[in-house]
Amino acid sequence: MIRHLLSGADLDAGTATLVLDTAAEMATVAGREVKKLPALRGRTVVNLFYEDSTRTRISFEAAAKRLSADVINFSAKGSSVAKGESLKDTALTLQAMGADAVVVRHPASGAPHRLAEWVDGSVVNAGDGTHEHPTQALLDAYTMRSRLGRLDGLHVAIVGDVLHSRVARSNVLLLSTLGAKVTLVGPPTLIPVDIAAALAPGTDVCYDLDAVLPDVDVVMMLRVQRERMGDSYFPSAREYARRYGLDGPRMRRLPGHAIVMHPGPMNRGMEITPEVADSPRSTIVEQVANGVSVRMAVLYLLLGGNNR
Ligand code: NCD
Repeated sequence: MIRHLLSGADLDAGTATLVLDTAAEMATVAGREVKKLPALRGRTVVNLFYEDSTRTRISFEAAAKRLSADVINFSAKGSSVAKGESLKDTALTLQAMGADAVVVRHPASGAPHRLAEWVDGSVVNAGDGTHEHPTQALLDAYTMRSRLGRLDGLHVAIVGDVLHSRVARSNVLLLSTLGAKVTLVGPPTLIPVDIAAALAPGTDVCYDLDAVLPDVDVVMMLRVQRERMGDSYFPSAREYARRYGLDGPRMRRLPGHAIVMHPGPMNRGMEITPEVADSPRSTIVEQVANGVSVRMAVLYLLLGGNNR
């Protein structure tokens, strides 16, 4: 097993499949009255969050607790980070406290990679800047596999603000490893030139959402990340929604079996309408539930649940 999970590219097909299979076992714990396993008793997991987050932080916390680990939640607000402490000094503090795993979210792309050089424990990237978010890609792959029965040969459209999306990047890497085909869809200003080929050969780009819908098994809508952009990327929110938002009529162009995903948080009415988000094709709530099982699997495997 690998020591850190920093990128979707850290996982080969065998390891990624092991994570998904382990997550399926972990999911059975969620259905029990006592939702706890002793696997990580006595181990310490630190959640180090330098960026706002609701579901990802809670999901990692729930995952670590279900495995009986001791969990320390460290948020940059109200800590010495607010007093200017560097990432390195924070890392050394965590190290001194005996962290076995550090789950980190940071606005700077690459921060988890730096952290991995400074601590002895495992580092899990919970989202770094516009770079990567590998556990989101794993939970998305898990959700596709459980709804559609396979990943190999699936056609997945990832739609919207690809430029600022760490979710898109990690998904392209992982899905191509697992044999799915990805088409990136959005306005040209939000799909970096050459990104598709640079991330994974075989990834396509299309600027016309209506053209790809009849041909996909999965459509993954991305949040328009207004906090990371000025307003020059598209003419207006209304114009964006008209061209690239998923609404009821567009959803009905999908094949009957196709599913609709979104990592959350959603801008309802912008990239997705409530009719679509709340429809039976939507897996948005399942994705959140699956996130806990997948993160349990990641922590369990990284911390040597089966070989230490
Ligand atoms: C994503 C993130 O923070 O990268 N959300 C998440 O982790 N559930 C996507 C987003 O913020 O749009």
